[in-house]
Amino acid sequence: MPTRITVVHYSATGNVTRLARAIAEGATEAGADVRLRRVPETAPDDAVAANPAWSAHRAAVEAEDGIPIASLDDLAWADGIALGAPTRFGLPAAQLKQFLDQTGGLWAAGTFSNKVVTAFTAASTTHGGLESTVLALLNTAYHWGAVILPLGYTDPVVFRTGNPYGTSWVARSGSTPDDDALAAARHQGRRLTRVAGALAATAEPR
Ligand SMILES: Cc1cc2nc3c(=O)[nH]c(=O)nc-3n(C[C@H](O)[C@H](O)[C@H](O)COP(=O)(O)O)c2cc1C
Repeated sequence: MPTRITVVHYSATGNVTRLARAIAEGATEAGADVRLRRVPETAPDDAVAANPAWSAHRAAVEAEDGIPIASLDDLAWADGIALGAPTRFGLPAAQLKQFLDQTGGLWAAGTFSNKVVTAFTAASTTHGGLESTVLALLNTAYHWGAVILPLGYTDPVVFRTGNPYGTSWVARSGSTPDDDALAAARHQGRRLTRVAGALAATAEPR
């Protein structure tokens, strides 16, 4: 049975979605059955409308062939989970936190104890909180009792992208993730699949 990977993320202007797609591609390359998901927008419509990049991205992900909304089942189903959100004042965007805060029932049932969790982000400045955002996302995984999977320098590309905590992109002047960032994300997806698959193989048959 293929390893099950869920990539769940929030993105306002598309950078984290680009990384999420690359993580999903890497997981697929490694043989996983992959669910790429987004969490609902919770910002007021007028805030979204005031930012053309935000409204364009929202329209794209809500289009007919866009990315489905995440459900709690997408988390329960998975052997491995990648969590992604943009950096907001050094922390993950609240939209993803709102979704994670609905996992109390799964947490109480011990659902996450044999799952592997990794994280990724985008910000606009090098020292603007990439690492603190990834670490904050993973705080939830500690409480879940999941196995935390760092990116580490487990592929040469991380020596160029520079963040062993998790794939990240610095969107200077509106730039979008470059080839190295996307390669790091694909590697993170492959690595998540390998580790989550190995752990799932030790669990009771499903
Ligand atoms: C309210 C708000 C707070 C932000 N806070 C930070 C921050 O603390 N550090 C930083 O480098 N960038 C910050 N940014 C920039 C975003 O993290 C950056 O544009 C990111 O690439 C957006 O990702 P997305 O395209 O997936 O939405 C902030 C943006 C907004 C709108």
